[in-house]
Amino acid sequence: MAHEKTFYLETFGCQMNVHDSEKVVGTLVSQGYRQVESVEEASLVLYNTCSIRDKAEQKVFHRLADFRKLERQGKKFGVLGCVAQQEGEKIFERAPHVSLLCGSASYRNLPQMLVQLEAGKRAAGLDDRQTTETFETEFTARSNPHRGYITITEGCDKFCSFCVVPYTRGRERSRTSDAILAEARQMADSGYTEVQLLGQNVNSYHDPREKMTFAELLAAVGEINGLKRVRFTTSHPIDFTRDIVDAIDAVPALCDHVHLPVQSGSTRVLEAMQREYTREDYLERIGWIKAAQREISITTDIIVGFPGETEAEFEETLDLLTKVGYDGTFSFKYSPRPNTPAQTMADSISDEEKARRLAVLQEHQKEIQARLSRRYAGRTLEVMVEGKNPARAQLIGRTSQNKTLNFTVTGGNPAPEPGSYVRVHITESFPNSLLGEMVG
Ligand code: 5AD
Ligand code: SF4
Repeated sequence: MAHEKTFYLETFGCQMNVHDSEKVVGTLVSQGYRQVESVEEASLVLYNTCSIRDKAEQKVFHRLADFRKLERQGKKFGVLGCVAQQEGEKIFERAPHVSLLCGSASYRNLPQMLVQLEAGKRAAGLDDRQTTETFETEFTARSNPHRGYITITEGCDKFCSFCVVPYTRGRERSRTSDAILAEARQMADSGYTEVQLLGQNVNSYHDPREKMTFAELLAAVGEINGLKRVRFTTSHPIDFTRDIVDAIDAVPALCDHVHLPVQSGSTRVLEAMQREYTREDYLERIGWIKAAQREISITTDIIVGFPGETEAEFEETLDLLTKVGYDGTFSFKYSPRPNTPAQTMADSISDEEKARRLAVLQEHQKEIQARLSRRYAGRTLEVMVEGKNPARAQLIGRTSQNKTLNFTVTGGNPAPEPGSYVRVHITESFPNSLLGEMVG
């Protein structure tokens, strides 16, 4: 056992990272490694990192410091993902026990890098951000047998002034629609009923073989036999076209949910963020979504305290939340990021003020959500069963709108298995979840 190759992998950050980790696990397993559940059992310890905000970035350095002593036991440490790409070989200085660095655009080189590592050398894969290739692998170890991610684009060319992604994940590149559809069919054949198409900006998908637009691809995935639910994330308003809403209307498997990050409700701030749309452009797209035949739930991302954001501009964001009526928001304090244009603007809003704006915004949104959530009470919705909450003797389900719906099973009926679809009558609503009883 002494020479068995084992690895432990911890993932930070977004869905893109979660899915990259599934590809990394598959790749390592194909190279004779076995995944283990603790640092102690592992010969190789990997962190797939996030650098979207400063806090996320600090986490990995804390982890590395925690386990520094273990190097003496012959363990090797690797840093993958956005912090690896951003900090590069500086990490070797800051954490000398690290011997592997790999940015997300270089994962296809992992097998060679592992060989180098096994030969006792350091390995760094950091030079592929200009690549036009996507990471195609037959070795994806998906962690859930019912719903899974499919990458459609990698990287981002938008260069919003606050965002580090174009520098860490590199140029935007799209997979062919043929490869995406083949993967989706293969997943359906092996029992998956839900897929989520992933990219930093899925709306700017550009089929290298010019066969399909994003909306056509979405519809084609939605028509695959066996797939009951198709989601997509993340959208950028500037590339969000009306035909996406038409596709949702036409294809029942496309979920009743659009995540459309707005970032700010002020046109002046949006311009400083280099978002390329105005408040009015954004509201026009919301109008398209609301005009759909189906009720589509809308969620968003918001940044408060961007350099120069005035109180009045912040209030425009609050007002936008009221106007749109989001079913959920992810909101963040602005965090200056290396290499980004906004980093050179004076970070003029104090941390206390950012925290205050964030708290005000979250309280405002909570009230909106509590009110909107009430419309669900009395309805019957289909959920995919995700698991159990034994403490409350409830099952956990997710609706097409991406709402968590906790429910009980009455009348001595057997509890449905994870991955199955059941209908639930909603009895109570909360800002972040719903409660109900299984029907029949
Ligand atoms: N500071 C705060 N939030 C950020 N985001 C991206 N970059 C930053 C930053 N520098 C947020 C945006 C994005 C989400 C994924 O993270 O809202 O949509
Ligand atoms: Fe970052 Fe903007 Fe690209 Fe989103 S669209 S990943 S916020 S640069």
